[in-house]
Amino acid sequence: MSRIVYVNGDYLPEEEAKVSVFDRGFLMADGVYEVTSVLGGKILDFDGHAARLSRSLGELQMDAPCSDEELLAMFRELVARNEIEDGMVYLQVTRGNPGDRDFAFPPAGTAPTIVAFTQNKPGLAENPVAKTGIKVISIPDIRWGRRDIKTVQLLYPSMGKMMAKAAGADDAWMVEDGAVTEGTSNNAYIVKDGVIITRQLSEDILHGITRAAVLKFAAEAQMKIEERPFTIEEAQGADEAFITSASAFVMPVIEIDGTAIGSGTVGPVATRLREIYLAESLATAI
Ligand code: PDD
Repeated sequence: MSRIVYVNGDYLPEEEAKVSVFDRGFLMADGVYEVTSVLGGKILDFDGHAARLSRSLGELQMDAPCSDEELLAMFRELVARNEIEDGMVYLQVTRGNPGDRDFAFPPAGTAPTIVAFTQNKPGLAENPVAKTGIKVISIPDIRWGRRDIKTVQLLYPSMGKMMAKAAGADDAWMVEDGAVTEGTSNNAYIVKDGVIITRQLSEDILHGITRAAVLKFAAEAQMKIEERPFTIEEAQGADEAFITSASAFVMPVIEIDGTAIGSGTVGPVATRLREIYLAESLATAI
């Protein structure tokens, strides 16, 4: 069965799903995206992803292509048509196709391009890597200054993952002015003496939907949280480290730049947060 992809109102086999070469997303990376997880055929944290999409669009003066209700119906339709139990829905909205290449934004009324597709990941929540953890390297953060907008400009994060791979690691944490901003496609945390430390929200990092949920659940579980920058050296001296994202949930980090974190194995705080996040998110999945 061919994957069914959503393109501007149509559900098409992936071979027939096409956008213009003049699309602003293709020519200018002028578009935003969301990755939302599906577990047991249900969508996790939909409201959070829909709210962040609206915010990203608003920050770029792009109109919302549809209502949240229409978006949810479309996600559900894609999940059903592709028989997804566990996986992701990828959504991209671009400033559309003005019919030519021009730096100026297209005239008002130019229709946005909306594309969405599913990714099938059976057993996503039971990822065995969560039991062993990942290794990260540090790289300079040379991205643009509005990382709070979830744009499709992913060249540097992509390069960062390749640099990690070349170094025998799994991912990279980006560093700016001496402090960790975030992972290439995830938010970064350390744990010291029971306190969860993660950089505060600003234009420097993406406002992770998983981050918001995990910090809420951690606070409800009476865990201590400090939202502040931290250095690679502090992280290397921490008891634990981990990342969060819609597709990785809570994933332990056991090594940074070749230095083992704590015991060098997956720690109790990350393990507990992963369990809480999965249980709570599943309970509210729609
Ligand atoms: N990435 N920071 C960056 C730079 C990201 O790209 C992501 C998500 C996150 C975590 O956000 P959330 O918890 O809302 O997924 C933080 C997605 C998963 C991706 O690009 O595939």
